[in-house]
Amino acid sequence: MANHRKKFIDLLDKAMAVADMMDHEDLLFSYKGILYPTTVCSPETFKALESFEARREDVILAGYPKSGTNWVGQILTNLVTTAAENNEDETNNLNDEELEVPYFEVGDPEKYQRMEKLSSRRVIFTHLLPHNLPESIFKNKAKILVLVRNPKDVATSFYHFSNGISILSSYETWDEFFTAFMTGKMPWGSYFDNICEWSKHVDDENVMTITYEELKENTALGVKKIAEFFGLLLTEEQLQTVAERSSFQAMKANAQKTHGEVGNILFRKGDVNDWKNLFNENQNQEMDKTFEERLARTKLGAKIKYEVYCKT
Ligand code: A3P
Repeated sequence: MANHRKKFIDLLDKAMAVADMMDHEDLLFSYKGILYPTTVCSPETFKALESFEARREDVILAGYPKSGTNWVGQILTNLVTTAAENNEDETNNLNDEELEVPYFEVGDPEKYQRMEKLSSRRVIFTHLLPHNLPESIFKNKAKILVLVRNPKDVATSFYHFSNGISILSSYETWDEFFTAFMTGKMPWGSYFDNICEWSKHVDDENVMTITYEELKENTALGVKKIAEFFGLLLTEEQLQTVAERSSFQAMKANAQKTHGEVGNILFRKGDVNDWKNLFNENQNQEMDKTFEERLARTKLGAKIKYEVYCKT
């Protein structure tokens, strides 16, 4: 995967260099009412994405930013690569040179034409809402893994990430960030809208959901379930290796190679409950109330186990 990662790191490095020169207010732009980072997304790319032709064997990972995308993304990529190596007949001619930056909505508008030429299973990550994805994903029944994480840890992670990376707007205080998070004025929009919208797809036959917290509790089991859902055939030993390679410590140690500079900021704590270091009592109450009103009765909201992970 060396060349593939290089493309990704180059893109991030370039975006950071451009962002360093930009005015704060230009860092985000709005498309169909949602904010996105100017240096890695563009209206042209969103327009081109509409006509992307998904395949049944595509492997899609969807979730709100800071839910553990890079973690589960690595698990998926390792599973797909190992399964392909096991099966010589399968589309295993993964060509490093051709693989694209895995984030669906990140890159130039021509990337979708290049992706058409990829014969291997395409592993695609996205933070987009389901109705902003190309229709062909649902029509062609590509399988989607929906990843969720409790809102308090997502907000905590997003705050530190926003202040650590020049591509995103930074915040002078946690209180300022909290207001932006609760009102959905965030890159990729509102956490609450994201969970609500994906909740409508929880029972689709081509959708599986997983939470950050359950994967943290039992990574080996999560890895096994993911492999089964996508029909990826690996031995027990291989599944174990994928799980071990995905540990926070292993990924952090490899961060420079896989993510360049961004790696130092991305692999921060990798834990559950760090929100307790930031949320004050009023903020706890406000989050509890909003969760109750917006998500508690949704199917995906129930999977978050708010009472277990978000109560003091
Ligand atoms: P923290 O900031 O709480 O540490 P994303 O990939 O969606 O941007 O999410 C980033 C969050 O996932 C960060 O959370 C990061 O530390 C955590 N993470 C990354 N790799 C992980 C791993 N292997 N195990 C557990 N958490 C991981």
